[in-house]
Amino acid sequence: MPLPTRTQVIIIGAGPAGLLLGQLLHKAGIEALIVERQSAAHVLGRIRAGVIEQTTADALTAAGVGERLHAEGLPHEGIALSVAGRRHRIDLAALTGGRHVTVYGQTEITRDLMAARSAAGLPTVHEAHDVSVHDFDGAAPRVRFTHEGTTHEVRGDFIAGCDGFHGVCRASVPATALRTFEKVYPFGWLGLLADVPPVSPELIYVRSPRGFALCSMRSPTRSRYYLQCPLDSQPGHWSDDAFWAELRLRLDPDTAAQLRTGPALEKSIAPLRSFVTEPMRFGRLFLAGDAAHIVPPTGAKGLNLAASDVSFLAHAFDAHYNAHSDEGLARYSERALARVWKAERFSWWFTSLMHGFPDATGFAERMQDAELAWLLESPAAQAALAENYVGLPLEMH
Ligand code: APR
Ligand code: PHB
Repeated sequence: MPLPTRTQVIIIGAGPAGLLLGQLLHKAGIEALIVERQSAAHVLGRIRAGVIEQTTADALTAAGVGERLHAEGLPHEGIALSVAGRRHRIDLAALTGGRHVTVYGQTEITRDLMAARSAAGLPTVHEAHDVSVHDFDGAAPRVRFTHEGTTHEVRGDFIAGCDGFHGVCRASVPATALRTFEKVYPFGWLGLLADVPPVSPELIYVRSPRGFALCSMRSPTRSRYYLQCPLDSQPGHWSDDAFWAELRLRLDPDTAAQLRTGPALEKSIAPLRSFVTEPMRFGRLFLAGDAAHIVPPTGAKGLNLAASDVSFLAHAFDAHYNAHSDEGLARYSERALARVWKAERFSWWFTSLMHGFPDATGFAERMQDAELAWLLESPAAQAALAENYVGLPLEMH
């Protein structure tokens, strides 16, 4: 298929944000070209998040890719906090008037979105190199890239920067036009994926003197576990046996006794950071997802924030092209950032509460202990956690 030289929205990045935006624009009758640096296989091979808020499930349904999510996704009405050797269930549904989250791997969401885009015959350029964005502060933005040895230039009405934290779009904005906010945490997460049954039907967030751990899953037969690890750790430093042994030491005895282990399908280490770019719009360039912000994964907000940004942006483009209103475009950054900052706060709070900090003072440790003790005793504190965990409402207007 010949590549278009003109389109309405040029989307940079075919991760969850770019693919979901492409589908929502298609549903609104808006043309878009996706330009992706990696191969489709590489994008699909990423092991990332797994907890979906209802607002994200609604966006996927609106994009026409909710079928497998509804058929195979696991509704979760509670999580557990394991503290000082005891598990405490947080009843998300009871505390939020019946709301829940769905466990469904990001890999599956990416697969569903790719399949829908391909079935609709929509253009995606994979393995695009030397991608650059131009004239987005004017009326005729352009994107240049090379593909299979040929240089291409595409003109569009708008550019959507869905190219992640290390992408080209935010980096192409003059430093004087944006402000960034960042906090880097003094530890990482070592993740392991294995085809073993989950240790518990619900997620368990563990605070132990040896460090944080998380028991998650992808299906009734595939588990996902994380261990807080030093920043200089490498996956190769950890044999499967060493991982399982350390996880057992961090779990409460009852849970440790239930743990089923097996060979790792994947092991990787992710750094933890909080990061926000303000604003998220620069003329005809709009940033969405990890291109604009990063959250520590403790609150499972990364994928969900990408989806809410894209819902706001798709709604704004729909109004521009189909209702001749630019109010959504004008307010995109304000609306997206209002939700981003609340999720950043929750993710920072939950990370600060549940992890050991190498250089924490005695006072800071007592503050952690007191906050946890209050959380486990207080229905009001648990309701606040639950409200944020299931996801705050999308203020579309
Ligand atoms: N040109 C084209 N594509 C690029 C470029 C570039 N210069 N730089 C990066 N990309 C692509 C990446 O290869 C990736 O496929 O942009 C995509 C960005 O996808 P993500 O990093 O997944 O970010 P996003 O779509 O915002 O999703 C955020 O998904 O990956 C998780 O942790 C992330 O949960 C968060 C959510
Ligand atoms: C995951 O399953 O990958 C996962 C779940 C919950 C989190 C973070 C990651 O908070």
